[in-house]
Amino acid sequence: MADNRHNRDEAYTLQTPDDHRRYYDQWAQTYEDDFIEAEGYAYSARIALIARRLRPGFKARIADIGCGTGVVGRELRMQGFRGPIDGLDISEGMLKKAGEAGIYDQLHCTDLTDPGSFPETRYQFLISTGAFTMGHLGPDTLEKVFGLASRGAFALIGINAVFFEKDGFGAAFKEWEAAGRITPPVWFDTAIYYDLEPIKTHSRIARIAAFTIT
Ligand SMILES: C[S@@+](CC[C@H](N)C(=O)[O-])C[C@H]1O[C@@H](n2cnc3c(N)ncnc32)[C@H](O)[C@@H]1O
Repeated sequence: MADNRHNRDEAYTLQTPDDHRRYYDQWAQTYEDDFIEAEGYAYSARIALIARRLRPGFKARIADIGCGTGVVGRELRMQGFRGPIDGLDISEGMLKKAGEAGIYDQLHCTDLTDPGSFPETRYQFLISTGAFTMGHLGPDTLEKVFGLASRGAFALIGINAVFFEKDGFGAAFKEWEAAGRITPPVWFDTAIYYDLEPIKTHSRIARIAAFTIT
């Protein structure tokens, strides 16, 4: 049943990791009805298609960064990814939902802003939708997330296009590239929803960066 107490616009106003933990714990049960289904969320399916196009048949361990209820894991399976996928998220409630489909190998309750809470595993592939968006995680956190990658890992990171501009992701990517931290990204500008009308606002677009962490 839809839960009118929780919605995307309110989630965009959250500020601290504790705000996120609390908000998503409460939203977890109805997130897929209220948001994924109701809004026509296409982001997870589209990032999984890009993953298949760039890394078909990839079998090593994948980390789904800010996995929520696990929509990316499901879509990766649909696109033929058979290896282990771990989900990382700050909300136990979301992780519990993600666990229900039996798709994830391990689920880690992790505050991505705090490397002290990271699992010890190092991943060969990082993927993310919906975590780098308004009110959520900025470039400083993305840089910390690189610490989860093994050397030469592949990354497919979606960032809301409005947030990308506002929060300085463009400059951060240039710095990481100049410092040799990452290879030059290939960008896939992607509609987040199955919009029936032409997209008029950038907040409905994600910039998905594909790159290697060196
Ligand atoms: C909009 S949801 C996206 C979930 C899923 N990837 C999707 O596309 O549906 C954002 C997720 O980021 C998680 N999140 C927010 N802040 C976080 C943090 N500091 N550390 C880990 N996860 C966080 C939330 O708990 C939530 O599950």
